[in-house]
Amino acid sequence: MSNVTVITVDGPSGTGKGTICSRLAYFLKWNFLDSGALYRVLAIAAERNQIKREDELVQLVDQLDVKFNINDIESMAEVFFDGEVVTDVIRSETCGKAASVIAPIAAVRKALLTQQRAFCKEPGLIADGRDMGTVVFPNAKLKIFLTANIEERAKRRFKQLKQGGISVNLRHLYTEIAERDKRDSTRNVSPLKPAEDAIVIDTSTLDVKGVMEEILKLVVDRVPNLSRQVVDYLR
Ligand code: C5P
Repeated sequence: MSNVTVITVDGPSGTGKGTICSRLAYFLKWNFLDSGALYRVLAIAAERNQIKREDELVQLVDQLDVKFNINDIESMAEVFFDGEVVTDVIRSETCGKAASVIAPIAAVRKALLTQQRAFCKEPGLIADGRDMGTVVFPNAKLKIFLTANIEERAKRRFKQLKQGGISVNLRHLYTEIAERDKRDSTRNVSPLKPAEDAIVIDTSTLDVKGVMEEILKLVVDRVPNLSRQVVDYLR
């Protein structure tokens, strides 16, 4: 395992992981991995290539070229697939569902390990997902697990999708999220759960600034060489 400092942020959909992780990565000028985007892009690539067989899906993983770019602290990371901007395309609930259907396949997860670990480069990595702290980066310096009640998560996703011009029904979204939670946390391979050494933060009543503050206090403790920079933010 490399000595690069990794901070993992895991949790179910709608807990604010994406926003928090892109802000953290931008602020610390670290590398960023949205592992959910890899599963979503894979689902799209499989659909475009009409791939159904597991061995073909694994081959597709090896060719997957995904990059992230964060323009400023307020914006979510842009996602590029083979150079094409797919940020909005992959955000739909249909794509999230398709991702969570291929996510339980052990061979796919294994192939994606190499892809995900390739993002681990100096000066550090912020990794967002479901199994970042448990499986992909078990030696991470700091492991966070974000939770929030399902009503709040559905409302947040609703707002986020609406802002992105995607119209959805709140009740329907609630059901979709509940189903996805169930699939993600009951699967045999890498189920969604906090790592034993993860710090759980309930974001139900916190805004983005509140969550950032909680996490940055933990960063000061665990990654001392960053203290100055972080203390400036907390001031
Ligand atoms: O985080 P996001 O909602 O983009 O993830 C989409 C789906 O990809 C999740 O519901 C989950 O099934 C899968 N996923 C996963 N492991 C990860 C990240 C995402 O299984 N590390």
